[in-house]
Amino acid sequence: MTDTTNKFGMFIHWGFYAQLGLQEQAYARYDIPREEYEALKDTFNPVDYDPEKWVLLAKNAGMKYITFTTKHHDGFCMWNTAYTDYNIMNTPYGKDVLKELADACHKHGMLLSLYYSNPDWHHPYSYNPASSHQWKAVNKEEVKLDVYVQFIKDQMTELLTNYGPIYTMFWDINPYVEDKSINELARKLQPDILINDRGFDTGDFSTPEREYAPTPNSARFTRMTEACNSLGVQSWGYREREDFYSLKHIMSSIDRIMAMGGSYLLNVGPDAKGVITDEYADRLRRVGDWYNRMEGCLVGHESDTFDYGVRGENCLVTRKNGKRYFHFPDGISSTAVTFKNMPEMPKKVRLMNTGDELESGMELLPEFFNGATGKPDSLLFHVRGIPVDELCLEPIVIEMTF
Ligand code: GLC
Repeated sequence: MTDTTNKFGMFIHWGFYAQLGLQEQAYARYDIPREEYEALKDTFNPVDYDPEKWVLLAKNAGMKYITFTTKHHDGFCMWNTAYTDYNIMNTPYGKDVLKELADACHKHGMLLSLYYSNPDWHHPYSYNPASSHQWKAVNKEEVKLDVYVQFIKDQMTELLTNYGPIYTMFWDINPYVEDKSINELARKLQPDILINDRGFDTGDFSTPEREYAPTPNSARFTRMTEACNSLGVQSWGYREREDFYSLKHIMSSIDRIMAMGGSYLLNVGPDAKGVITDEYADRLRRVGDWYNRMEGCLVGHESDTFDYGVRGENCLVTRKNGKRYFHFPDGISSTAVTFKNMPEMPKKVRLMNTGDELESGMELLPEFFNGATGKPDSLLFHVRGIPVDELCLEPIVIEMTF
């Protein structure tokens, strides 16, 4: 299953909330009155929206798919839907932005995935008492989940019929109500679709969010996994005063997740005009520069559970085409790495980041003198001359060819 989802992708959170420049859930998190919030649709006019630019930005960063928010919690629909007037066609812009994005994706060989929020702060019957995101539901007292589920199915039928092949379906916010018929319908409409675990059943893949948990050496996901994170800390949608993660943090997280066999969905929030501003785009270009140098070892690999006894570093090992890849998502603390166990001698040792060959071999190292016996320790496999200071801003991978 790894190859299916082991990809780098772009998450895009975009809705009329971008006009506020606060957050995709600003309606709730800034406690904005309903009339005031919903009136944002009367001014939404992203005149600079050019989805080809988004697609090319993603493509140049090595990304293979785009996951787009068709409807976030506010319930506003970014496509031409027949099931509510609360949609993009009824804004000054008046065009189906999803269709435009889908065309640009198909033109450039970019896969398209759809995000759809289960909570809906506009639909009168979306209320579901088990979910945490039901803020300002219209008819809290009168639950008609069946009406809402039918609405979801109708909308999903549009989404999975009118926009060409859809790679994955990203439901958001578990409703904690099981209804397998929803994903069954999705699979009927798009037989190859992969579905995440935040919908009405467990779906095909898991979605850890904003996680950067240290993992044991060579840990691997046992289920298809797509981790997601945003470049911005406070928001997924466009935020004027955003705080940004360090690129090292983002790249370390990508390296770790993808070395574990997962996919990585990195989010940007375009502004109200439809532009991915330089604050986001420049960061993405820099991540892309690193990713493009590393892609060969981040996708399509297998796990390697052999214990190489890497001294003192956080390291994950994978295999691919007779090569082994030693990932150091947090960097390396000195200019050398020592391995206690090397089952056979590699023919070539190379630094993935630069492509440069590294000096390596069995060596007697004074550092590992055996105090108990008073004798030198045995020879250890030693890779040296790693330009760690030049590479201190990115995760490091050493490639060994056997
Ligand atoms: C969180 C946020 C939501 C966002 C989602 C993306 O659930 O609350 O706004 O869309 O993450 O995975």
